[in-house]
Amino acid sequence: MSIVKTISDLNTTLVKQQSKSNKIGLVPTMGSLHEGHLSLIRNASNKCDFVWVTIFINPKQFNSLDDFNAYPKDIDNDVKKIFSISKHIKIFIPSTNEMYPDKKFDENYEFEQIGNVLEGKYRPGHFNGVAIIVKKLFDLFSPNMVFFGEKDFQQTLIIKRLISWYYPKIKIFVCPTIRNKDGLALSSRNQLISKKLLSKCKIIFETLQFAKANYEKTDFPILLEEIRKKIEILDEFKLEYFEIRDEEKLDLFCKGEKKSFRGFISVKVEGIRLIDNLLFKN
Ligand code: PAF
Repeated sequence: MSIVKTISDLNTTLVKQQSKSNKIGLVPTMGSLHEGHLSLIRNASNKCDFVWVTIFINPKQFNSLDDFNAYPKDIDNDVKKIFSISKHIKIFIPSTNEMYPDKKFDENYEFEQIGNVLEGKYRPGHFNGVAIIVKKLFDLFSPNMVFFGEKDFQQTLIIKRLISWYYPKIKIFVCPTIRNKDGLALSSRNQLISKKLLSKCKIIFETLQFAKANYEKTDFPILLEEIRKKIEILDEFKLEYFEIRDEEKLDLFCKGEKKSFRGFISVKVEGIRLIDNLLFKN
């Protein structure tokens, strides 16, 4: 069975794959796959004996019902894209009932600062929802390797924390952000933006590059205002945040500190949130 929809069928297939020498790779997704996802799947295919892609729009990580309902869905094309990489890849597409069969209380994770700033601040409960589903998937698949994209850098820190708590044997691969020809980071949400404005979204990456070139010589409040002006040149663009934080604990940037720093940005375009990040210094 290449497409599996129930946990019971999943277990039947997994039993045949699980042996000490086999490496099982897991690529969790919410579907509407683009080149970014496909690069994770290719990476997993190169490294693992068996690759599983999961497609599940996880309601628990959305802090607004409208956002959940608007999330793009394209299962038929997703399946085609996955099998175009390899017919041997297995796909798990569970229903919400399959993943959340009873209404028991959710676990509450305490990720401290890495869960409270940036996306954690603007999407309360989001990372708890991510942790709940990712832990369920890790428990179901017992993967040897898991693959996530650097575009969601903060999410990768949350998942690394989960791995350090519960799954020390899992190896995580964080794969580079894939961008379109203009530099816009690929995201399933890009397709929710009108064509006219999509071509203007390159300003997000351009702004990150501008910030990278200037953050050491410009005081942060001044830099932030310059960034806001660049982003909000069009009425439909609103800067939600721009911050420079270290890559490990997400502490705010301090001049002279010898840590790796990254710029993080979130912009609302016609109400759709687009996030991106860029390594400033390591
Ligand atoms: O990055 C995503 O698409 C989701 O947050 C994930 C990791 C698949 C969990 O639902």
